[in-house]
Amino acid sequence: MATYETIKQTLLTYQQEHLLHFYDQLTETEQQSLLTQIDQIDFENLKETSQQQEERATISALPSHSAEMFTTTELVNMHEHGLSLLADGKVAVVLLAGGQGTRLGHNGPKGTVNMDGTAATSLFALQAKRIQALQQEVKTTISWYIMTSPINDEETTTFFKENGYFGLKPEQITFFLQDVSPALTPEGKVMLEDKGTVFQAPNGNGGVFASMQKAGILAELKNNHVKWVFFNNIDNALVQVADPYFLGYADQQGAAISSKSVKKADPNEKVGVLGQRDGKPSVIEYSELTEEQRHQPELQDANIGIHLFDVEFLEQTADQVLPYHLAHKKISTIKEDGTTVQPLEPNGYKLEKFYFDVFPYASNMSIFQVERANEFLPVKNKTGKDSLEEAQKRFN
Ligand code: UD1
Repeated sequence: MATYETIKQTLLTYQQEHLLHFYDQLTETEQQSLLTQIDQIDFENLKETSQQQEERATISALPSHSAEMFTTTELVNMHEHGLSLLADGKVAVVLLAGGQGTRLGHNGPKGTVNMDGTAATSLFALQAKRIQALQQEVKTTISWYIMTSPINDEETTTFFKENGYFGLKPEQITFFLQDVSPALTPEGKVMLEDKGTVFQAPNGNGGVFASMQKAGILAELKNNHVKWVFFNNIDNALVQVADPYFLGYADQQGAAISSKSVKKADPNEKVGVLGQRDGKPSVIEYSELTEEQRHQPELQDANIGIHLFDVEFLEQTADQVLPYHLAHKKISTIKEDGTTVQPLEPNGYKLEKFYFDVFPYASNMSIFQVERANEFLPVKNKTGKDSLEEAQKRFN
């Protein structure tokens, strides 16, 4: 446990000593709690974050495949191969469900929103049913790892328990917690929420690899001889969890990462695209593309958050410190005079890691383009495009 003196020294080194501004006004327990919170902050990574320079990278395309490019026999083989990987226990599933879902305006974890007013059609249940169906087909139990965050862990695990784990065995599901990260002022100072609390929020879905390692999941996958980890987001109502075609495809292509994509709805659809940055596999955010690149026919593979990772690759990269991305937000904070500010405009930056920042460490990535209408219906908003309303219409 770090002492007051060592913490103070670290804060002086990184010019963050304001975090102890109210220290003398705290009880002993609060003081200890504050020191523990500060001790968990990676100040070196924060320093690099606030000094980040915009670098112009060279963006280029990566070829993608689609079902039409294969013969019927090849597709049948792909499917069979995927099923045999599942039957042999070579596949595990990871669900990213630590996000806040604020855009949806739903009170509770995003996975608990449903299509017909019952938990049986919640986003969590839709994924569980898919796993259940595959299990019946291949007669093997599929391990499911669900990442939650301190803001939704309890509600998520209770939801599963209350709903009988949607027919799955409780012991095949492992919930694991992602970390949190602090927020920074425009001057790069870590923000306090109140006198004894550092403002903290989930550290983005890029925290997943380190959290899997910390929870012993990577070691477990290796011990169980799992080869492929299927990753996906919680919000896609049409996701084909552990799709055998995709598994067969990825295994036959042999790249460390395989990603599903859909063709961008139009050049200006605000999604990340799968491609290369400086010759390395990447997701290139909409904002990073020039107008010309947005229209480039080879750069139309939208990232839909569905990936297969080779377990060995995850092991090799789990120790990489991924950079933070800044999100300008309204953050409730305490001023030096002890008054609390509830800002009406963004006043600070939340820090998030993105899982696809590990992509450049892979020597290659294969991309399987699928039909949006069959496989991608993300529940991002309440109404309109990519909304709960749209998903509910589709299911009812
Ligand atoms: C994400 C992708 C984007 C892609 C889109 C497709 C990222 C950073 N961007 O965007 O390239 O086009 O999906 O739908 O992934 N999550 C956590 N912990 C966190 C934050 C998020 O587990 O701290 C989870 C969410 O619960 C969700 C997933 O990560 O399942 C994606 O996060 P979200 O914030 O929804 O990303 P988008 O902006 O929609």
